[in-house]
Amino acid sequence: MDSDGAQTTIGFVGGTGPLGRGLAVRLARAGHRVLLGSRDEGKAAAAVEKLGERAAGTDLVGVTNERACADADVAFVTIPYTGQRQALPALAGPLGGKVVVCCVNAIEVDDRGPKVVRVPAGSAAEECQDLLARSRVAAAFHTVPARLLLDVGNQADCDTFVFADDEPARKAAFELATDIPGMRAIDAGPLRLSVGAEAATAVLLAVNLRYGTRAHLRVEDLER
Ligand SMILES: NC(=O)c1ccc[n+]([C@@H]2O[C@H](COP(=O)([O-])OP(=O)(O)OC[C@H]3O[C@@H](n4cnc5c(N)ncnc54)[C@H](OP(=O)(O)O)[C@@H]3O)[C@@H](O)[C@H]2O)c1
Repeated sequence: MDSDGAQTTIGFVGGTGPLGRGLAVRLARAGHRVLLGSRDEGKAAAAVEKLGERAAGTDLVGVTNERACADADVAFVTIPYTGQRQALPALAGPLGGKVVVCCVNAIEVDDRGPKVVRVPAGSAAEECQDLLARSRVAAAFHTVPARLLLDVGNQADCDTFVFADDEPARKAAFELATDIPGMRAIDAGPLRLSVGAEAATAVLLAVNLRYGTRAHLRVEDLER
């Protein structure tokens, strides 16, 4: 629900991965209509099916990425960085004028573990804004482990930074994050600072691989 209590239709590009499924089920449980997108509609339907009881009673359906973008009020991009430049231009039309929440981390994993990918635009989020020039891009959820989101029996007790240059985009991403029980959104400034959260995620991933954990970021001493 938005600040007026209205239902938002949220589309996911690449909703079949762990992060897309985790955010989709949490936002559907918060009362939103959710369109979980994929390049393959059958794979989207299977991903919804796999959520099972966690999605019971919600308005969550599997569709193509194109349909998710066309019918959405707000769209989430939850694909690997390697796919962004290829996937987004074709969706720029249906996403024109809409808020897009980019969750993409410009990171890769090679035989030495996670590493940061240098993006000419500065960050995955800024590149997303360049590719979707007519959309209002915010960036968030970089450091939120999908496993926390998929564990719907428990609160997703974690923080997420929200970055945006566009005020309606910041507000929408902020409000949707706080619709997830336990999650705290932190206004972290302009889109260009997303590079810090994206890089921090490579470090967190390395730590989690080393320790076998799902550690995430918490900001202390924020409240006054
Ligand atoms: N996993 C996490 O805990 C987590 C947490 C925070 C942020 N993130 C970020 O969120 C994004 C998604 O993470 P994930 O772990 O869910 O990723 P993933 O499982 O690797 O990919 C998600 C989905 O993206 C689609 N996809 C893959 N390659 C693509 C390409 N070349 N072009 C278009 N679509 C493609 C696939 O969907 P279809 O085949 O169905 O189209 C896939 O199921 C990443 O950028 C990641 O850094 C992840």
